[in-house]
Amino acid sequence: MDNLNRRDALKAGGMLAGIGALSLSLFTAPPRAQAWSWPASGSIAGSGDGVDPMTVWDPAADQVIAEILESGQVPAINKILATWTTNNQPTPSGLPPNLTAFIEQARQLPAWIDQSKLTAADDFNSKQGPFIGTAYGFGAGLLATVIPHESRAVYYSNGGGDLQDRIAKTAKLGYDLMAQQPFAPNGHLIVTCVKTRMVHAAVRHLLPKSGPWLQVATESPKIPISQNDILVTWHSLPTTIMQKLKAWKVPITDAHSAGLLHSWQVTAHLLGVQDQYIPATWDSANAQSKQVLDPVLGPTPEGTKIADHLLTIGPVLAATSFITKPMLASFTKFVLGAQVAKWLNLKTDGIWDGIFATLWGPFVQLYQLGRIVPGVDAIYFQLTEFIKVVALLYLNSGGLKLELPIPTTNNPS
Ligand code: HEM
Repeated sequence: MDNLNRRDALKAGGMLAGIGALSLSLFTAPPRAQAWSWPASGSIAGSGDGVDPMTVWDPAADQVIAEILESGQVPAINKILATWTTNNQPTPSGLPPNLTAFIEQARQLPAWIDQSKLTAADDFNSKQGPFIGTAYGFGAGLLATVIPHESRAVYYSNGGGDLQDRIAKTAKLGYDLMAQQPFAPNGHLIVTCVKTRMVHAAVRHLLPKSGPWLQVATESPKIPISQNDILVTWHSLPTTIMQKLKAWKVPITDAHSAGLLHSWQVTAHLLGVQDQYIPATWDSANAQSKQVLDPVLGPTPEGTKIADHLLTIGPVLAATSFITKPMLASFTKFVLGAQVAKWLNLKTDGIWDGIFATLWGPFVQLYQLGRIVPGVDAIYFQLTEFIKVVALLYLNSGGLKLELPIPTTNNPS
């Protein structure tokens, strides 16, 4: 799979059968303003075939998921897959042989996995969990709403019928990753990633049949969730989070930094990203992010609606808390900047705008020293409560099950 070229990618996959009539000439013009130039020498694989990831999807998953969707077996398969939740569980019996074969292959950890780096990631998460969690919620969760391909895919797919938890689920994978030893036998992340890979393949099969999505989609051809799209979202997660943690001056050792990157490299691999596209270092991640994430950020009506829902769940879930929608908007503005706040039409709270701008930095430092004394310093106490509630709101796994059923329809509304 790692050496797929563009022609292979186009040939493969039942999903792509739907565009069988599509001429390869559609690809004669590069699909991005500037030709793909990120060097594969900076990837985990160390080399690559130079193919633009905008023209590569996930043929192995797309083929098998298209087949089971077309055969009408998915509801029965979802029931069986619901029993598969823990990394060391065998692949459940009773699945179609082609799906079993896919899962058996997809659940394999990469040969390059480094346990010592994963242990460092565990240590980082346990030491800086509240700040990492807050960065997942606001750095990644809200940033996703200004990634047009993702916002539209989410809005018009089945999950778009319930916006309140949709994007939070993407960030939730980040939260699962913060659990101790997520790839170990008793962890859940291998299963979550493989299921997500199958959900994404289903979305590739289903969304091109959605009239509303086809009207607004800018992908060329109109197939969602290319390898490039996954990289974009990936950078909205670890790359952005690391940038935020550094900006907030959260203490980060070299081992912690390498650990966070590595846990996301393994996650990308399990999500079906080819090793030739997975950045090997933070420098190469930042360079790739500049090419794939920065230029695509912008507002869409769909993303703005999703952001509005994300910021509305605060007061609902924390009815007794001091947290308000304008406060969450202020924090979003603080984390993602005035431009993003403007795109999302955020109505911020002037007082909290000032508090975050001036006191967040000192708060991060005081928090490290354990000098937050409830009742003594009201603002710092509120900020402490704030990061706890944010983690609860956006990232708590309590309400989110690991079932991740394969969808069979688009957004019905
Ligand atoms: C589903 C995570 C990239 C669009 C999911 C789910 C997870 C997830 C955990 C399963 C949630 C559920 O169905 O309950 C991620 C991660 C990504 C990523 C970690 C990258 C690192 C993308 C991209 C797009 C996308 C790039 C679109 C351009 C969707 C859609 C669904 C989905 C439409 C299914 C929604 C539904 O109908 O239920 N993703 N995703 N994802 N993802 Fe992603």
